[in-house]
Amino acid sequence: MFYACPICDQQLVLSPSHTNLSCSNNHQFDRAKQGYFNLLPVQRKKSKQPGDSKEMISARHDFLNADYYQPLAEKIAQIIKQQQVSTLLDLGCGEGYYTRQVKQRVTSLDTYGVDISKPAIIKAAKQDKQGHYSVASSDKLPLVDNCIDLILKVYAPANEDELKRVVTDKGLLLTITPGPRHLWQLREYIYQDVRAHDTQDTVFKGFKRMSSENFSFTICPTDEHRVALLQMTPFAWKANEVITEQIQQAQNLNIELDFVINLYQTLE
Ligand SMILES: C[S@@+](CC[C@H](N)C(=O)[O-])C[C@H]1O[C@@H](n2cnc3c(N)ncnc32)[C@H](O)[C@@H]1O
Ligand SMILES: [Zn+2]
Repeated sequence: MFYACPICDQQLVLSPSHTNLSCSNNHQFDRAKQGYFNLLPVQRKKSKQPGDSKEMISARHDFLNADYYQPLAEKIAQIIKQQQVSTLLDLGCGEGYYTRQVKQRVTSLDTYGVDISKPAIIKAAKQDKQGHYSVASSDKLPLVDNCIDLILKVYAPANEDELKRVVTDKGLLLTITPGPRHLWQLREYIYQDVRAHDTQDTVFKGFKRMSSENFSFTICPTDEHRVALLQMTPFAWKANEVITEQIQQAQNLNIELDFVINLYQTLE
C-alpha cells in the first residue's frame, strides 16, 4: 500500500493482520469494519462532517447505479485502458461509482479512492473489497510521493501541488468537467435564458495537456430519477417547489449530458 501518515508524512505500513496502519513514529490508524481507513486528522477537519452528506451520497448512489452515466464510465475506462497504468487514484471518488466501473473494465489496476466525506467512503468501501479507500482531503493526500500512474478527477476539488507530488514520472491526470450543454433541458426549467457553460481551459501547474475532447449523450430518466438528477446539480437550490414539481411531471424529458474530458501529463 502507498499510504502516508497524515500527521508526519512517513510511509504507513499495514499490520500482519491487515487491521491497522502505522508509521515509524507510531501514529496508528485502524481499519474501519467496512474496510476503509480514516486518514483525516481531527485538526484538519474544517467542519464536523466535511464533504457531501449521507443524504447527498445516498441520492447520488441511487441515481448513478441506475447507470444513466454508464457511457461516460465506459469512455473513461477506454481512455485509461489505452495508457500503461497500474495505479489509479480516484480523487473525490464519492460513493466510488467510477472507481468500480473502471476497475471492472481494467482489472489489473490497483485503485485508491479518496474523499473527504465519511459517508461516501463507507458506501464506496462496502461495495468494493479490492479497492483501497480512505477518508482524506485533496489538500493533503495520504499517499507517498510518486506512487500513482493516473489520477481521475470527476467533478472534484484538487490541490495542484498534491497532484504533482503523488503522481509518478510521466504520470497522468484525467479530468471530467461539464461541457457547454450539460443538463441543458433541466436548466431550461430554472433559468429564463440558458447559457452554454463556459469551458475555460484549466491549467494544472507541472502538467501539460495532451488531449481534450467533448463527450455527450442523451438520457431519459424516470420521473423519480429526474428529480434525483436535479438534486445532484449545483443549481438545485434555485429550483423552488413549483419548478421541482414541473420537472417531476415533465414525462419523457430527454436531457443532454455533455462533458469535457482532458488528459494531462506531468512535465519532465
Ligand atoms: C460532485 S461530487 C463527485 C463525486 C464523484 N467523483 C462522482 O462523480 O460521483 C464531489 C465529491 O468531492 C468530495 N469533496 C469535496 N471537498 C473535498 C476535499 N477537499 N477533498 C476530497 N474530497 C472532497 C465530496 O465529498 C464529493 O463526494
Ligand atoms: Zn506518522
